[in-house]
Amino acid sequence: MIIAPSILSANFGNLSESIEKVSSAEWLHVDVMDGHFVPNMSIGPVVVKGLRPYTSQVFDTHLMISDPMKYAKEFVDAGSDRITFHIETVKDPMQMIEHLHELNVKVGVSIKPATSVESIAPYLSKIDQVLVMSVEPGFGGQEFMMNSVLKIEELSRIRKKEGLSFLIAVDGGINKETAVFCKKAGADVLIAGSYVFKSDHPNGKVDSLR
Ligand code: DX5
Ligand code: ZN
Repeated sequence: MIIAPSILSANFGNLSESIEKVSSAEWLHVDVMDGHFVPNMSIGPVVVKGLRPYTSQVFDTHLMISDPMKYAKEFVDAGSDRITFHIETVKDPMQMIEHLHELNVKVGVSIKPATSVESIAPYLSKIDQVLVMSVEPGFGGQEFMMNSVLKIEELSRIRKKEGLSFLIAVDGGINKETAVFCKKAGADVLIAGSYVFKSDHPNGKVDSLR
């Protein structure tokens, strides 16, 4: 399992210290919110750039913004290794995927709880990762939605049947219990915010998920 702590639940007064506490994680998940696609605002490219010298962990950037095409390059230039955009935000997903390929960054596509796996089926052979949202995007600390497990199973079946290699990531409400459902369904990446950071021993929480 790849574990990606979501820094949305970290201490924004001292981010570099927060990420030191999750040094055992392979990836760091960076939630970008624009107050438009989701009803909250969070991190911009300047934060990614500021954090980049402090760690060599993979920066997994989750764009919850209405215009990912406009801002993707800024995040890549700032140090993002993987960029995930929401299928609900683009008219022409293939164009967005090609744009990210040109930027030389790993490509992820995310679906909200009400969006079907079918809606991203045509793109699965072109991308590196699917991010299944297991809460409504916008806030940390929400309860895991069980319908996401069915989507992980469906993606896992398609991947096997078609011989594809995209990673399946799940984001929202992940803890030691919900992680088990996701693992059994075929998830490869667990993104967890409050479970990891609202603890005195974040690295221990990362290890417990793995
Ligand atoms: C929600 C974000 C998540 C969030 C997860 O919109 O995409 O990454 O930080 O937080 P928890 O793990 O607390 O549900
Ligand atoms: Zn996220």
